[in-house]
Amino acid sequence: MSDVLLEVRDLRVHFPTADGVVKAVDGVSFTVERGHTLGVVGESGSGKSITFLTVMGLINRKSAIVSGEVLFEGRNLLEATNDELRHIRGDRIGMIFQDPMTSMHPMYRVGDQIAEAILAHRSVSKGDARARAVEALRLVGIPAPEQRARQYPHEFSGGMRQRAMIAMALVLDPDLLIADEPTTALDVTVQAQILEVIDELKQRLNIGVALISHSLATVADVSQDVMVMYAGRPIEQGTRDQVFTAPLHPYALGLLSSVPRVDRRVERLVPIEGSPPSLIHVPSGCAFHPRCPYRFAPCDTERPDLRDRGGGHADACHLSVDQKAANRRERLDMQEPVA
Ligand SMILES: Nc1ncnc2c1ncn2[C@@H]1O[C@H](COP(=O)(O)OP(=O)(O)OP(=O)(O)O)[C@@H](O)[C@H]1O
Ligand SMILES: [Mg+2]
Repeated sequence: MSDVLLEVRDLRVHFPTADGVVKAVDGVSFTVERGHTLGVVGESGSGKSITFLTVMGLINRKSAIVSGEVLFEGRNLLEATNDELRHIRGDRIGMIFQDPMTSMHPMYRVGDQIAEAILAHRSVSKGDARARAVEALRLVGIPAPEQRARQYPHEFSGGMRQRAMIAMALVLDPDLLIADEPTTALDVTVQAQILEVIDELKQRLNIGVALISHSLATVADVSQDVMVMYAGRPIEQGTRDQVFTAPLHPYALGLLSSVPRVDRRVERLVPIEGSPPSLIHVPSGCAFHPRCPYRFAPCDTERPDLRDRGGGHADACHLSVDQKAANRRERLDMQEPVA
């Protein structure tokens, strides 16, 4: 049964600047369900962080024009007051970011910082808050949590620090966890461990997770739903299986072809040529057309709508579904799944 925690409808975040309007987010709709992880993927500058900073009310509304709806627990957060948002952040929505060093105060003990987060939202004693902080550190797999709670952030390794950030984000039992590139600063083995911790806690606590990453490979194993963003818009959306076994959009196909996979016969690395466009002068038609190896007549003039191609698997591309299947066979050299 679907249990939608967060529903974002046609979100737009535009920044007027001296050079023109930066359309950082330009028509994004998605849902995050309880017990599911939504993997949000796209190159640098595609609007991933701005989307979720806006969801959390962390965008300065004086410098941005924001429209659309952010429905969370029955209300539109775009209409919430700063006080309401402060309550929701941390308490109902936990967040973790790329660099735990900038999110933790270097001068305070790790346990005290987590306890402070509890005290800011709950009327409990300091002793209770400290005890809960230690439990939270234990929950994320930090050994000897009583001792670790008394240490300072610099005494933690990168991976342990990121575990502590997860503990802090989850200590108030939020329903939703937003993890923006939580593993980028870590080495590969530690990355996998952190993703495992998030995945395990998602199941154990039955929360929803939005996991933001540059890489489709990073979200592959731990996401149930996937949204691929390009130039401030979703260009492909679907379940993990839909997007991974049968990517539709040439950009998603490009992201997947640049990932070496042992379950595919050919391990060719075909990176996507070119770089993401300016969000002030977004290309006409399909924003991806200047980089698309399959572009044809309408692509540089008509913007393709995001359309459901069946079973909720949607993409925004003018190519026919048959043409996309042929491209997929050529690029990924894989068998079409038997329907
Ligand atoms: N206050 C602002 N004024 C103008 N442009 C902004 C502002 N904040 C963000 N942008 C622009 O919005 C675009 C989207 O930024 P965002 O941080 O969401 O990208 P991202 O997908 O998270 O990229 P990355 O993978 O590098 O984190 C970028 O081009 C950025 O320069
Ligand atoms: Mg970002």
